[in-house]
Amino acid sequence: MKPDILLLAPMTEAVEARLDADYTVHRPYLVTDRAALISEIGPVVRAIVTGGQTGTSNELMDAVPALEIIAINGIGTDKVDLQRARARSIRVTTTPDVLTDDVADMAIALLLTTARRICVADRFVRAGRWPGEHLPLAMRVSGKRLGILGLGQVGRSVARRAEGFGMSIGYCDLHPVADVAYRYETDLVALARESDFLVVAASGGPSTRGLVDRAVLDALGPTGLLVNVARGSVVDEVALVAALIEGRLGGAGLDVFQDEPNVPQELCRMDNVVLQPHQASATVETRRAMADLVLANLAAHFAGREPLTAVV
Ligand code: 8YV
Repeated sequence: MKPDILLLAPMTEAVEARLDADYTVHRPYLVTDRAALISEIGPVVRAIVTGGQTGTSNELMDAVPALEIIAINGIGTDKVDLQRARARSIRVTTTPDVLTDDVADMAIALLLTTARRICVADRFVRAGRWPGEHLPLAMRVSGKRLGILGLGQVGRSVARRAEGFGMSIGYCDLHPVADVAYRYETDLVALARESDFLVVAASGGPSTRGLVDRAVLDALGPTGLLVNVARGSVVDEVALVAALIEGRLGGAGLDVFQDEPNVPQELCRMDNVVLQPHQASATVETRRAMADLVLANLAAHFAGREPLTAVV
């Protein structure tokens, strides 16, 4: 008998076909009466497969009494109550390593597109304005000072790329990272003050909620740029919008938001802001590698082996 799994966020067609081959897959996002589906199949479900930004609610976890494993297609665990899972001996797996490069690439892409005003210039050309008008000059990226909030895998990958741009690099984290030569700063406001650009690469969750607040944004200042490829929750979005409106911050490149998929309308009207719909890991290669890990974790678990990349 195939194990029953609950798929909370759609994956690619090819991956879903592989899931269907080995499991009985239930897809609550396809039905109108989600509650009815959950109460019908909840008791037989043994696995939840979900995205990093989707996670699973405690209510849903409680409605699935035979749950054995939550396989997250991503690295973020901020939307899953790990303590609750641990208390019920539910395994939780993520997809580390395989998405690091893509997320770091996106951080650099957002930095370049924001500073060099690539999207503005693209719209300028498309609108046929090139022959008659001049674009204002953009901002140099190479050789500037980069601050990184969170020097985990993604933060370090961003730093390595920034080295290639001749940037001087500082970072904030809970502790200094032993094997790097970058400048360690305990105070985020001080890091922002000493940086031209601040890249947010810290995990989401209660301990980082609203860390990038008005004081940090003001320290970054009217020519400073903020890039966020981590979680919208790490940045006080109301303070961010206000800083941009009032010209206290130079610009922002954002892949993540507080209430996805809702993006503050003010941001959509700003030329000094580049927006992405949470795309950092969304390449064919990386999504395939992430899916392979999700499937491998499930297969190992249901074969009675240790999942490859369990966090709980
Ligand atoms: C993905 C993410 O977009 O890794 C994460 O936690 O948020 C992203 O990489 C997401 O998990 C895809 O479902």
